[in-house]
Amino acid sequence: MDQISIIQPDDWHLHLRDNEALATTVPAAARGFGRGIVMPNLSPPVTTVAAAKAYRERILANLPVGVSWEPLMVLYLTDNTSVDEIRRAAECGFIHGCKYYPAGATTNSDSGVTDLANINPVLETMQEVGMVLQLHGEVTDCAIDIFDREAVFIERHLQRIVDDFPQLKMVFEHITTSQGVQFVTSAPENVAATITPQHLLYNRNDMLVGGIKPHLFCLPVLKRNTHQQSLIEAATSGNKKFFLGTDSAPHSKNDKESSCGCAGCFSHPAAIELYTEVFDQAGALDKLEAFASKNGADFYQLPYNKTSITIRRKAWNIPMSLPFTDSEIVPLGAGNTVNWKFEQ
Ligand code: NCD
Ligand code: ZN
Repeated sequence: MDQISIIQPDDWHLHLRDNEALATTVPAAARGFGRGIVMPNLSPPVTTVAAAKAYRERILANLPVGVSWEPLMVLYLTDNTSVDEIRRAAECGFIHGCKYYPAGATTNSDSGVTDLANINPVLETMQEVGMVLQLHGEVTDCAIDIFDREAVFIERHLQRIVDDFPQLKMVFEHITTSQGVQFVTSAPENVAATITPQHLLYNRNDMLVGGIKPHLFCLPVLKRNTHQQSLIEAATSGNKKFFLGTDSAPHSKNDKESSCGCAGCFSHPAAIELYTEVFDQAGALDKLEAFASKNGADFYQLPYNKTSITIRRKAWNIPMSLPFTDSEIVPLGAGNTVNWKFEQ
């Protein structure tokens, strides 16, 4: 097959940052996608409907003329999130989820929830109003090895939430392990997961063998190749619980290539093509549309996009770097050849 046409995809997990960064990140997020779930981990985080509305307007102001793309906004849960704020979010029409970050787990997560037990009333209300819970599923206990943090989160917390809130819709974000795949596969209908391009394309050897590759460092961290294989099988299976979420997370080149490098991969410049390559290599191009364009919309109870996109078999090189605010940024796969090309 030399070309594939699919319903326009959506990205169910991404980061845009704010202010000047939006001039780069918003057009990149809109490249081929119809909508995107915009994560709220700004500094300070987006914790209120009013802040989400203002952020949404700043995002839309950076959308190129003639491009239609819809930011789907998210509230950042803290220990102090009120049930009234959840009700307001459910009514406003532009907020589509609330994100649980364990305090200290990842970029700008210092205001995150310190103990899931603190937000039981909030989860109760989310369940009642049908608001989606988006989970960064890692424990932050320093006694737990960083490669085990997702699996331990399932044992210690996720099973309990699924049992206690049987109607709560939840997305286990950017899953990285076979335990994550197994949990979601056997969980009830209200539990789904996003999968990133980096966790499908790479494993920890790619990041660490032959020298450390800071541009492959993201959280949850890349795992061993057996986990990568489980993720590829889940994404390409057609199972409607798994859908596309790039977790495109821009950080400047300097902030990544540092003695204390930031976590996050900026995947938007070639996101659609990188996913297509994974599905092609797995012999599953026929499953790409479900993963990229249908399963997430079904889960979030939104209509499919009305247009289609075509991706052609054509080799091109991902740029080594791109301009970003007053600096530059290195996209995921920089310098590599991709064999598929989406043309706008
Ligand atoms: C994300 C970021 O930079 O905002 N980083 C990452 O490594 N994925 C935060 C997140 O989603 O964990
Ligand atoms: Zn993220």
